[in-house]
Amino acid sequence: MPPDHPASSAWFDRARAVTPGGVNSPVRAFNAVGGTPRFIRSARGAWLTDVDGHDYVDLIGSWGPMLLGHAHPEVLAAVSEAVARGTSYGTPTTPEVELAEEIVARTPVDRVRFVSSGTEATMSAIRLARGFTGRDLVVKFAGCYHGHVDALLASAGSGLATFAVPGTPGVPEASTELTLVLPYHDRAAVEKAFAEYGGRIACLITEAAPGNMGVVSPEPGFNAFLAETCARHGALFVSDEVMTGFRASRRGQWGLDGATEGWSPDLVTFGKVIGGGFPAAAFGGRADVMSRLAPEGPVYQAGTLSGNPVATTAGLTTLRLATEQVYAHLTTAGDTIKAAVTESLTAAGVPHVVQSNGTMFSVFFRGEPVRDFDDASDQDTSAFAAFFHAMLDAGVHLPPSAYEAWFLSAAHDDRAVQAVLDALPAAARAAAREGD
Ligand SMILES: Cc1ncc(COP(=O)(O)O)c(C=O)c1O
Repeated sequence: MPPDHPASSAWFDRARAVTPGGVNSPVRAFNAVGGTPRFIRSARGAWLTDVDGHDYVDLIGSWGPMLLGHAHPEVLAAVSEAVARGTSYGTPTTPEVELAEEIVARTPVDRVRFVSSGTEATMSAIRLARGFTGRDLVVKFAGCYHGHVDALLASAGSGLATFAVPGTPGVPEASTELTLVLPYHDRAAVEKAFAEYGGRIACLITEAAPGNMGVVSPEPGFNAFLAETCARHGALFVSDEVMTGFRASRRGQWGLDGATEGWSPDLVTFGKVIGGGFPAAAFGGRADVMSRLAPEGPVYQAGTLSGNPVATTAGLTTLRLATEQVYAHLTTAGDTIKAAVTESLTAAGVPHVVQSNGTMFSVFFRGEPVRDFDDASDQDTSAFAAFFHAMLDAGVHLPPSAYEAWFLSAAHDDRAVQAVLDALPAAARAAAREGD
């Protein structure tokens, strides 16, 4: 018998009465997999505990931030001390300077501005790119998610339409008319867009390595090609490292292929890990571009809680503890889990492909590799839903969507990894029963 969850169900009913869908971010609602989301009352290390008292190995990791695991003692101690000194002053503080220094030391950015969410970071980076270049158009890739910025919630126009159409009601056409959406990895489409509109393109924004259509590693040279194309046309190359920053590797995606291929972004966005579980994000980049930002330059951008001392203390402590050993551990634990996933799904006859990028990975329920959003969309989502629920019933909480990375942490020790391995064979058989 699967464990029941009356308290989560009751909270979900209460939540739905007062909040749309009962959640404050859509993917949490389990719409893609069905059933009732678990309400979590506490978390420690690699484990979540729900309001019914069930424990789960956590493979969501708050969608990326929890690199060190939950309630890390040193992060908690630093945050407690910061909280005791007061939580927000609206004046400059020292931790925001130290966190900026840490980011500048580990990435190709010269200067950083803090904000409170990844959405704010990408929105602000685009404004700055437009302000710096004096141009309007933005290029993005289908399947890359950059937060819920109007201009970036855009879908490729159908047929011959060049410019994007709104990706959701509520986004005016006027916002997406300035966005070009191209298929990921399609160099010819990039060349064509720049040949046609190069003089009007302010920036190209890309997930440094896509994680929001599942994990897709950029093919060798692709980011370098994008950076070079932007440079040739006087557009800025914006590398969105909200998910990959300090997660795919100690130096983010840039540390994986930027350093070796010799590309460098003009602007970078960060989030998730740099907040250590608190709302902090940032955008940064070339000194000459960043100096166009108010109050040094004319491009306006601001935030009441930006650089908040508690959030930046959490992020700073997390980054300082994010040593090479942490990433080596993520690699080892990830390799063990990936091998077991492959073994179990293969034994059960479930078509699948496991894709990795640095320390990040995800599992696609299709037999062929995924290079772009069309590929990612062609999955057996009912097989994934059955797999997801079997894992959940066995005490492993995967992201409730087939399009997401599985997030590990430094706290995923042998016991947590073994719990994942133990759950896999039965979940693979459940997926086989549901598969197309
Ligand atoms: C690559 C990327 N950019 C931007 C965002 C938006 O960040 P936030 O949810 O903090 O607004 C996300 C969120 O998942 C992301 O993965």
